[in-house]
Parts: sequence; C-alpha cells; structure tokens
Amino acid sequence: MKTVLSGIRPTGNLHIGNYYGALINFLKMQEENKCYFFIADWHSLTTHPDPALLHVNVGNVLSEYLACGLDPEKATLYIQSDVPEIAELYLLLNMHAYLGELEKTVSFKEKARQNPNNVNAGLLTYPVLMATDILIHNADYVPVGKDQEQHLEMTRNYALRFNHKYGVEYFKQPAAYNFGQELIKIPGLDGSGKMGKSEGNCIYLVDEPKVIEKKVKKALTDNGPAGLNAPKPECIENLFTIMRVVSSPETWQHYNDLWNRAEIRYGDFKKQLAEDIIRVTTPIRERINDIKGNDAYLRKVTREGAEKARESAGKTLREVREIMGFKAF
Ligand code: TYM
Repeated sequence: MKTVLSGIRPTGNLHIGNYYGALINFLKMQEENKCYFFIADWHSLTTHPDPALLHVNVGNVLSEYLACGLDPEKATLYIQSDVPEIAELYLLLNMHAYLGELEKTVSFKEKARQNPNNVNAGLLTYPVLMATDILIHNADYVPVGKDQEQHLEMTRNYALRFNHKYGVEYFKQPAAYNFGQELIKIPGLDGSGKMGKSEGNCIYLVDEPKVIEKKVKKALTDNGPAGLNAPKPECIENLFTIMRVVSSPETWQHYNDLWNRAEIRYGDFKKQLAEDIIRVTTPIRERINDIKGNDAYLRKVTREGAEKARESAGKTLREVREIMGFKAF
C-alpha cells in the first residue's frame, strides 16, 4: 500500500483545472492506498486574505471536495492549520533550504513580478512548506497538475539532502502523479495560459449551466482553419484540450476531423463543449449545495481528519527530531 497526498489552497471555488489536474487522480487512489488530502490554509496567507473570507473559502473547498467524492472514511481529510506538527517540521526543513534555489523557483519569480509590494518571506519559502506537507506523511505519490512539477522536484531535493546530511534513508522520494503519466495543465478560456482562480478564465464546479454556456460561448477563438489540416492556434488547441478531458474520445475525434477538413463551426463546437462540461459538473454542483450548509458534518470531518493527520505527522516529527539530535535529558 502506498501513501498518497494532495492539497489545495483555499483561495476561491474549485475549477475544472483543479478537478482534472489533481482531484480525479486522487479519487481513484483513495480506494486502495493510504490517502491524505488537506486544505493548505497556511499557504494561502502569502496574499494576506481577509480573515472572514479565509474561513468561508476553507468551508467552500472542503464542501466541494466532499461533493466530488472524497470519502473521509477512506482518506484522511484535514485542514493544514489544525496540524501544528507541520509548522515545526517546516522550521526544521527551512534550515536546509537555500536562498539561491528559492529565489530561482518559477512560482516565486512569477508572484514577485505580479505583486512587487508583497514579496514576503512566506512566499519565498512556499516550496519548503509544500515539501513539509508531503514529507510529514512520507508520501510516495502526489497527484497534482503540471504547475506543481517544480515544487515536487524541490521536495525530492530536500528529502535527499536531509537523508544525506544525517546519513539516513529516512525520507522517500515522492513522485508527482497522474494516471495518464503526463501531468496535465487545463488551459483557461481566454486563449493562453492555465485555468486559474486569479486569472478570471475559469469554469467553476459550482457554476450554473447557464453561466457555463455563457463562458464557453465567450471563449476566445479565431477566424477558423486557414485550410485543410491547418495547425491549430493556441486558443483553439486549448478548447480541444478541455474537450479531451470532458467529452468522449469519439466526440473529440469528430471535431478534430471537422477542423482538419476545415469544416468546423465554432458555434456547434462550443455548444458541444459546454454540454459536456455541464454533464460533468451538474451532479457535483447539486451535492455541493447539500453539503455546504451542514456545519455539524464539516466539523466532524475536520476534527476526525485532524486527529488522524496529527498521529501520522507526530510520528514523523518525533523521528526527525531524534535524527537531528533533539533528545530528552
Ligand atoms: P492550487 O491550490 O493552485 O491547485 C490545487 C491543485 O489543482 C491543480 N491545478 C491545475 N491542474 C491542471 N490545470 C490547471 N489549470 C490547474 N490549476 C490548478 C494544481 O496543480 C494542484 O494540484 N501549492 C499547491 C497546494 C499545495 C499542495 C501541497 C499540493 C500545498 N501543499 C502538497 C500537493 C501537495 C497549490 O497552490 O495548488
């Protein structure tokens, strides 16, 4: 049995990028593995969220994951800040993380460029906290989207560095995971880049069918194929990428053939795409609305999840302390 872990920052509602990049893989694994899923509320502090909004967002993401099929009887579902052991291991690992490598991290450089007035130390050491999340349960597999690949590589480096420094074989080498082998990036509806909460180019799992239809209709397209078998511009390729995950292979092939024959009509293509997205999201949306208001249930799930997560995290922390030379007199 392998240990699997994944997480999400509670910065808004869940979009189909989160669903196909990370969650769907995690759900398949919860049947046969030791699975941990957590809400990375400490990670979200880098942008200084409004306290009341932070709480609402944690509740939203929690309800949305449960609605997607995350089963608290099978997987340990917890909130990061309920597990103080993570903060201590983060402190210990920070001593082995170097400024030069942290400054070179793509996500750090991007965020620092976007918000030059808020380049805080938490943003710089974000990959160390993420490595801590993973190593505290000594995870084998981490289902994530392509945007997290570098963080996983850094996690493996920290694990190796720790083992080497203390002459132990303690931490495993966690692998980023996707059932389709390649990590995926779900693109946004605005023609370029990935679907992301801060980009405003998302389809959320809670979006009503009418909203989804409208968003897909407005998605950026061009003037149509330039001829037979023309290469697809990025905005069109992106819509085909979304179709590949939400529609049947036959549907995708049908529209790809129409493109190659230069017979595609974007109106029909988008109608089909919206219909298939709605088919996936409707049952989830209906469950979200049921779970969201059920505070007693959410309290129970997070309390039990925190207990189980602290047990595993506490064991790792005791062993790490011992390895590093912290011993009782
Ligand atoms: P976050 O909150 O940005 O996203 C959560 C998960 O969704 C995936 N994802 C995508 N996958 C494909 N296409 C997209 N457009 C897309 N957008 C988001 C992300 O890859 C991620 O798997 N740092 C993490 C949270 C985290 C974490 C961890 C994850 C903290 N500690 C430990 C795994 C293990 C993050 O910001 O994800």
